[in-house]
Amino acid sequence: MIETGDMQFEGRMVSPQQVEEDREVEVTLRPQTLVEYIGQDKVKENLAVYIEAAKRRGDPLDHVLLYGPPGLGKTTLSAIIAHEMGVNLRVTTGPAIEKAGDLAAILTNLQPNDVLFIDEIHRLNRQVEEILYPALEDHAIDIIMGKGPSARSLRVELNPFTLVGATTRAGQLSSPLRDRFGVILRLELYTTEQLTDIVRRSAMLLKIPCTIDGATEIAGRARGTPRIANRLLKRVRDFADVMGNGEITEEIAKMALDRLEIDALGLDSNDRRMLEMIIRGYGGGPVGLETLASALGEETVTLEDVCEPFLMQLGFLSRTPRGRCATALAYQHLGYHLKESAGDGLDGQMSLPESE
Ligand code: ADE
Repeated sequence: MIETGDMQFEGRMVSPQQVEEDREVEVTLRPQTLVEYIGQDKVKENLAVYIEAAKRRGDPLDHVLLYGPPGLGKTTLSAIIAHEMGVNLRVTTGPAIEKAGDLAAILTNLQPNDVLFIDEIHRLNRQVEEILYPALEDHAIDIIMGKGPSARSLRVELNPFTLVGATTRAGQLSSPLRDRFGVILRLELYTTEQLTDIVRRSAMLLKIPCTIDGATEIAGRARGTPRIANRLLKRVRDFADVMGNGEITEEIAKMALDRLEIDALGLDSNDRRMLEMIIRGYGGGPVGLETLASALGEETVTLEDVCEPFLMQLGFLSRTPRGRCATALAYQHLGYHLKESAGDGLDGQMSLPESE
């Protein structure tokens, strides 16, 4: 099962969403300081200044909004912020806070300058969000006692605290909530070099022998996402143990990842099936999302949340008002030949891969 409860991500090695199995490893591997945290250099440099300034003044850090694709280390960063500030961390998620009273209970239990991390903060409901406004601005909440004409509002003072909110898209947040964050930071997909460092660090901490080339091979297929890199590392280790001498080499990593059907760029069989369907079934597109989903027997959300962000990032897929199109790069990657004269090349003027 995975955290969001969305069944469609189950069993997919390259989904960036957290699954139960990831949790333990991620907690073990979590860097505790900004210095240990690899990549996201701009975010780290700015955060270091804000943390130092807040500490010198004895103030809580300003409220921080982290946004960017899943699996890049937003929870990890919030833990680092708490650690660097020398305060406690309280972790929750937007959908887990169902009632205003749930949030009030969390807020009234915070110690001075503590960090409250709310993942998927765009999924807070309206009543809960409204409790949060005075908490963020005035360190107080207004609790309504009773009902109807006799209802009274009771103001409860809170300890000063820092909210760290995380979301996949800043635009999903209501603007009154977004405006209350003093620090807004965007996390970016990692480069292969950064992911190689992350894989090597993880392998060392998990006592898995791994060559640099082995780590690079895993990193290159991890879709810019540490969560996926660490997941692949664990699976490749199984192959190294059973089919090799326990060491992850380039050869073992290649063999294992090929067996997992994750190709050199990190595409899995679902991504390829989607592109093949657009190319072979719909002449390269455009094809509407619903049509595509039903042709593939998939949910539209799976295509939108798991396949499309990565395929678009690679430049393999374009979204047009009339539907999805496979790009020339996608044709090339899958081994199709585009005719020079085919204009945008996406109108079915292709030949089949040489192997067919
Ligand atoms: N594990 C996951 N993300 C990481 C990062 N950015 N740095 C170090 N270890 C990590």
